[in-house]
Amino acid sequence: MNIKRALEQGQGDVKIKGWIYRERKSNKFIFLVVRDTDNIVQCVIKKDQVNEILWEQANKILIETSVEIEGEIKKDERAPTGYEITVNSLNIVGEAENFPITKDQSPEFLLDNRHLWVRSRRLNAIFKIRHTIFQAVREYFNQNQFHETHSPCLTPNACEGGATLFEVKYFNDKVYLTQTWQLYAEALIYSLEKIYTIAPAFRAEKSKTSRHLAEFWMAEMEMAWGDLNMILDYAEGLIEFVIKKVLENNQEELKVLERDTSKLEKIKKPFKRITYKEALEILKKDGLEVEEGKDLRTIEEDKLMEHFDKPVIITNYPKEIMAFYKPEDPNNPGTALCFDMLAPDGYGEIIGGSQREENIKQIKKYLEKEGEDIINYGWYLDLRKYGNVPHAGFGMGMERIIAWVCGLDNIKETIPFPRTMLRKSP
Ligand code: 4AD
Ligand code: MG
Repeated sequence: MNIKRALEQGQGDVKIKGWIYRERKSNKFIFLVVRDTDNIVQCVIKKDQVNEILWEQANKILIETSVEIEGEIKKDERAPTGYEITVNSLNIVGEAENFPITKDQSPEFLLDNRHLWVRSRRLNAIFKIRHTIFQAVREYFNQNQFHETHSPCLTPNACEGGATLFEVKYFNDKVYLTQTWQLYAEALIYSLEKIYTIAPAFRAEKSKTSRHLAEFWMAEMEMAWGDLNMILDYAEGLIEFVIKKVLENNQEELKVLERDTSKLEKIKKPFKRITYKEALEILKKDGLEVEEGKDLRTIEEDKLMEHFDKPVIITNYPKEIMAFYKPEDPNNPGTALCFDMLAPDGYGEIIGGSQREENIKQIKKYLEKEGEDIINYGWYLDLRKYGNVPHAGFGMGMERIIAWVCGLDNIKETIPFPRTMLRKSP
């Protein structure tokens, strides 16, 4: 049985499996705290009640040894989870050498030993919240009649600019690791109309910030017959739903992470929607002058978000600095029908999306401006030739959401084995 079950039983004989989390030895007693995925329980071995072989075995046990234990569980207020098991039988499944991770290790040491550090209560809590968030994204889109579908990871195209492409040898040719599913999604809406995916995305980000990974997971949606306002409603709905699910399922984990949940409870739609121009006005009042036509940098996003305790949607960024597929807003010339959603508390951009350019000439013009070879985009241009419809979509950085929901200082904690410019192992 798992430890949670044993604790619920609270009395009588139990049999548990797990790993040694802490051990303390004296002449008469050996205390072993055992952990499994959900809980810990203290076990005691009393010298005068067990045979010599069991006592000797227990005496040699080191942290992280895997064990099966049988014994009698009883209430004990001094024990960490309120119960103690008096051990009758101990089976050592896998011995452990001296565990390299002890208290107060540096973040770099923990990253070098990530394959072992994933066992920590802290990462265990983060990964459980990660699990909830992945399931919640699927549930939200399924409830709204979207189909889950997939795009290739190996692709001949850039979508978010050539600067962050990872090149891969492909037989006698080369391809890139995908930056986003978007171009393929724009083909698939002609079949499935409303679609989503959760997939790895790759960016050769040269920035060493606490928000960028080279390999991250993105939840993306795309819909035929959709415009900017429709996808903004879905973006708001998705965030509200994800937070609600974490609050419902992960109170224990949020406690381990010491997350202030009152802040999360406030995350209810609608979120404030402002234009890029209005964002600049707010920043100007704060004494941060941004030249019109420049993208918002991290410091500006953070300054802006000091005014808000819920996510904010910024629309209508300058057309000239946006990716080729973001169309001009006919009602607001010079700006694009696009948005970013920023999270509060300095977690930055969590969602980016837009309506999609429908005019082939415009697409070609901007691809050329980005230095792309149109030949590689022939198939994408075809999509505008056979019954084109207005469409729109967005991408949500899963690790950005996890970092925010968990209240983490660095995005590297959100994913079991992070990949950044400076880290490719373990
Ligand atoms: O804003 P981005 O670049 O948008 C796209 O890729 C669109 N093609 C999505 C779409 O419309 N289908 O990326 C979307 C989100 C960002 O808002 C951010 O949350 C996350 O992906 N993101 C990253 N997360 C971690 N590390 C990185 N290097 C990231 N780059 C983007
Ligand atoms: Mg973006």
